Amino acid sequence: MKGLILSGGYGTRLRPITYSQQKQLIPVANKPILFYAIEDVIEAGAKEIGIIVGPNKERVVETVRATDWEAEIEFIYQDEPKGLAHAILVAEEFLDEEFVMYLGDNILREGIVKHAKKFKENNSDASIMLTEVENPQQFGVADINKDGTIKRLLEKPKVPPSNLALVGIYFFKPIILEACKSIRHSWRNELEITDAIQWLIDNRYNIGWTKVEGWWKDTGKPGDILEANRLILDDIQTKNEGTTENSRIIGRVVIGKGVEIKESFVKGPAIIGKNCMIKKSYVGPYTSIGNECVIEDTEIEDLIVMDKSEIMGGGRIIESLIGRGVRIKRKAELPNGKKLIVGDNSEIVG
Ligand code: DAU
Repeated sequence: MKGLILSGGYGTRLRPITYSQQKQLIPVANKPILFYAIEDVIEAGAKEIGIIVGPNKERVVETVRATDWEAEIEFIYQDEPKGLAHAILVAEEFLDEEFVMYLGDNILREGIVKHAKKFKENNSDASIMLTEVENPQQFGVADINKDGTIKRLLEKPKVPPSNLALVGIYFFKPIILEACKSIRHSWRNELEITDAIQWLIDNRYNIGWTKVEGWWKDTGKPGDILEANRLILDDIQTKNEGTTENSRIIGRVVIGKGVEIKESFVKGPAIIGKNCMIKKSYVGPYTSIGNECVIEDTEIEDLIVMDKSEIMGGGRIIESLIGRGVRIKRKAELPNGKKLIVGDNSEIVG
């Protein structure tokens, strides 16, 4: 089985962070979201992976190539995000055998091994993954017959027929290419994967489905990314490779090499990347700090701080996404409990 991972698109709901980086590269617990997808696909046995990249492809290619993967990875260019079925058509040459398509902004706790196994055992033409959600209007939704077969799939319906959302991970035989060529553009002018699967259903192909039991996150918005960060940090194990001085560390905390923590209080679950300086600060639960960051005279909690950022005298900052290379320096006393979304290389000086 091959893997097709989608890392195109513009990520408009995550601006300003996505002005300068693809959303799939935003780190969750200090690992790019996209890497969770690559790891899952490799774990399910794929030896060849195609990654769909869009106009902002350079950073994605560079970041993926900087890691040694146990699979051959090639990049497939999609000039514009014209839909998930369009991405399949762009990858037509690569897709000469059955494959798993994984949306590069999805994170799934349980991985996909058991779902891939079911797809193979049942010898289905396609298999989808479903999970119960509270807001089905925001996803593809499945209408299931009494006998458990899929009746129809609807993309972001105003009146959903069920609360079973399509997770962004799909298993296909190459017949899906014919389906993608047979459908028309939707109201949002995209070639929808739900329409392509519906074409398979209407043409009596065998479509299976499996249910996701653990948590799943589509990291489309800042709140979803922070939630994914909390969920991943809930599972981390303590590891301290840094040095501490007059500080208190409680709970599960991962501290990278070259980190210095002075006169500070760190309360896990939290992760601090390599070569950071934490001084006279409080780092609270559910915080991920990237490499080479400086946190001084600041209280942070429930936060993602990306590489090479400095927060000095920042007061109390919670539930925020701080981009790469950001400088926050404040001298004046400011109201507590600020929530921020700060794009890469920004400066906030008070
Ligand atoms: O996450 C699950 C949902 O994903 C499903 O429930 C929906 O049925 C499915 O259509 C999809 O909906 P989204 O609206 O969330 O898809 P989005 O446009 O955000 O694209 C998902 C990922 O695929 C994102 O990482 C960008 C990438 N992409 C998207 C398009 C449209 C591409 O690489 N190329 C594209 O043309």
